[in-house]
Amino acid sequence: MDKPAERGGLKKGLTNYGDEGFSLFLRKAFIKGAGYTDDALSRPIVAIANTGSAYNPCHGNAPQLVEAVKRGVMLAGGLPVEFPTISIAESFSHPTSMYLRNLMSMDTEEMIRAQPMDAVVLIGGCDKTVPAQLMGAAAAGVPAIQLVTGAMLTGSHRGERVGACTDCRRYWARFRGDEIDAREIDDVNNQLVPTVGTCSVMGTASTMACIAEALGIMLPGGASAPAVTADRIRVAERTGATAVAMIANKLTPDRILTPAAFENALRVLLAVGGSTNGIIHLTAIAGRLGIEVELGAVDKMARETPVLVDLKPSGQHYMEDLHKAGGLTTVLRELKPLLHLDALTVTGRTLGEELDAAPASFKQSVVRPFDAPIFPQGGIAVLRGNLAPRGAIIKQSAANAELMEHEARAVVFENAEDLARRIDDPELDVEADDILVLKGIGPVGAPGMPEAGYIPIPKKLGRLGVKDMVRISDGRMSGTAAGTIVLHVTPEAAIGGPLALVRTGDRIRLSVARRSIELLVNDAELGRRREQLQTHTIDPHERGYRKLFLTSITQADHGCDFDFLRASQQTVKVPKLRE
Ligand code: FES
Repeated sequence: MDKPAERGGLKKGLTNYGDEGFSLFLRKAFIKGAGYTDDALSRPIVAIANTGSAYNPCHGNAPQLVEAVKRGVMLAGGLPVEFPTISIAESFSHPTSMYLRNLMSMDTEEMIRAQPMDAVVLIGGCDKTVPAQLMGAAAAGVPAIQLVTGAMLTGSHRGERVGACTDCRRYWARFRGDEIDAREIDDVNNQLVPTVGTCSVMGTASTMACIAEALGIMLPGGASAPAVTADRIRVAERTGATAVAMIANKLTPDRILTPAAFENALRVLLAVGGSTNGIIHLTAIAGRLGIEVELGAVDKMARETPVLVDLKPSGQHYMEDLHKAGGLTTVLRELKPLLHLDALTVTGRTLGEELDAAPASFKQSVVRPFDAPIFPQGGIAVLRGNLAPRGAIIKQSAANAELMEHEARAVVFENAEDLARRIDDPELDVEADDILVLKGIGPVGAPGMPEAGYIPIPKKLGRLGVKDMVRISDGRMSGTAAGTIVLHVTPEAAIGGPLALVRTGDRIRLSVARRSIELLVNDAELGRRREQLQTHTIDPHERGYRKLFLTSITQADHGCDFDFLRASQQTVKVPKLRE
């Protein structure tokens, strides 16, 4: 019999009955029950991780994609075998999708390991699904290629083009400010998501699609095709065929997801004005391979990487416009001098070779030239200071320039429940100039680090026309949101980070120019407060996944991965700073 490492197809990963011959005999007997021939079963197997779910409209086109991937696999001589994994949709996940990302990554990793496959196509899309799949696949070590479901198309409300979910938030803020009535908010609710697919702006799903393409783990041109187009179906067919070729080329994830690939992905994250969540997810994926994303170096990289893509929430357009403008290829061409062009992709060719072979560029207005960007520096800035010793971030491309240098009084909410109870109270002592602080929404605190960092403007200020305030929390924010919002304050309040010590009336100074976030309270007073502090303890009655989560979750600077899932050693740091 073949050595275990050389076994492919059905012979891989035999079930342990103590007799390998019998294990294979039994496996073949059962799969023949589904009508397969020996010829089919002798082919290389390309598994397809199908995340279609009626709870996930962002993956509503999964059946068509699975069919097209299968066609591609069979045209290339392979045997496609589809299998289900957990699917996570943002708005259908309690308490928050981030709570489930690591569970999905474990499901993906273990099912890749457990089932016989020579390569795997990962069909993801909605925010947490792509990072979960890449985290799992990176650790499983089987040739893997990412396919995304693609962005939804835009809708139209009373003559205005709208799309999820930047416009969801904009219209909801107008409703809260009494600018539009209940009838209109119902009308727009019908138009914000006019087709299946992922959010139509540069939110987390689009960001992760662009990141996957930049990493080289997705087909070139695979990020931008909208969900309901023929282009998307063709990408799926080519993905299936490419997966078969990856088997012969032994293109395992560690050959593609290299430090150079992560540096390319960080560049792209910054240049597309990508979601702040992208940093956490990239950190988690890299951490599975022993590669550490260093926040200070990311900030330095951001200073020399302009935002080129004019998409909401940083700009004006939507994903379908980026696709018509040539997709991510157009962005990569502008970034070429800053990229590692020798990084390998799923095609077996390098990023540079793929760019040379891409269709010619043409005049368009969605991706700006490198020397005429929409924002001169990368979209994300990393802040440090006594309020965030291990870092915090702000999406400066979607922030208000006038608030990025700001010192003011803090108005503090102890947790999400406190916020919900008091934010719209007419008696709340708050003014437009104040800084809103929300504690207790970090990885442990909430738990799951929900996207509650987009603290709503208090109703009484909204009615006065206040559109933005400095807001600070240890939570995350949807990639589709905009505002002067400081996120991922690390360490979080629940484990005793300095954020836990802030009280209403303290003064806080934010300086994005100096990359600092400071609590202007003297050390002696902070020491007194620390002595009185009660930090989070785990209820002894906790059980199951929640217990695993609370005892194993890491902070944002380690990607919010579980400590036991990261590589045992982080041996390389990225990005390396250029001379
Ligand atoms: Fe699924 Fe936005 S809710 S991508």
